[in-house]
Amino acid sequence: MRVVLVGPPGAGKGTQAKVVCQRFGVPQLSTGDMLRAAKAAGTLDPQLVAAMSQGALVPDDVVVGLIDRRVDAADCAGGFLLDGFPRTVPQAEALGALLTRRGARLDAVVQLDVPRSLLTERLIHRRADKKTGQIYHLQYNPPPPDAELEHRTDDQPAAVGHRLDTYEAMTAALLPYYQGLGLLRRVDGVGTPDEVTARMLAALA
Ligand code: AP5
Repeated sequence: MRVVLVGPPGAGKGTQAKVVCQRFGVPQLSTGDMLRAAKAAGTLDPQLVAAMSQGALVPDDVVVGLIDRRVDAADCAGGFLLDGFPRTVPQAEALGALLTRRGARLDAVVQLDVPRSLLTERLIHRRADKKTGQIYHLQYNPPPPDAELEHRTDDQPAAVGHRLDTYEAMTAALLPYYQGLGLLRRVDGVGTPDEVTARMLAALA
């Protein structure tokens, strides 16, 4: 299974990816997580750290390089779920080329659809446990008292608005690109996380 998960910030990509990957036994390849890990390790260019904090995309060649190296790891032999990559048509073309070089191709692109009116509220109340990576929502999915919570810098209200605008501009071209390749499957992301998971699994069946 080689699947791309596309959706706006706060759509629930990370939440759903963890469940779907466990179900199919494939790794979750999140460029956002990879970039945050590089930032935490002090190996990410300070200009890119600043861009991420403001809600801007990092350059295509940076994320393409991350994925190009990651897909050769042993755990990707049976497939993977790409979370948050590609986000632009040049990234999508680079992904197609790097898969072709390996004699592989994508099976599906799942678009997780959530209206903008719900996204801001999901993002500004999101917290993650530093120890486990588990994602919580202060209201819908409250963390346990012993969680070590962190609040992403790009989940501040000003950055959230910029991220949502960037996503809308980007998908204006990306979704038609995958539609044209016959790979796009739309999943309604409104509902409880379990309801959305059931729709995701049906879309991938
Ligand atoms: P990234 O980490 O990929 O962030 P994102 O795309 O903005 O998505 P999020 O992680 O914010 O949201 P999500 O859809 O995973 O939602 P979640 O499951 O957490 O990227 C961060 C940055 O890295 C980018 O801005 C960019 O700078 C850079 N970057 C990454 N990839 C790049 C690329 N390819 N090219 C260039 N730059 C790149 O859920 C959100 C909240 O909602 C949580 O609190 C959760 O508990 C709650 N929730 C989830 N599902 C539900 C539900 N069904 N009902 C109610 N609440 C729910």
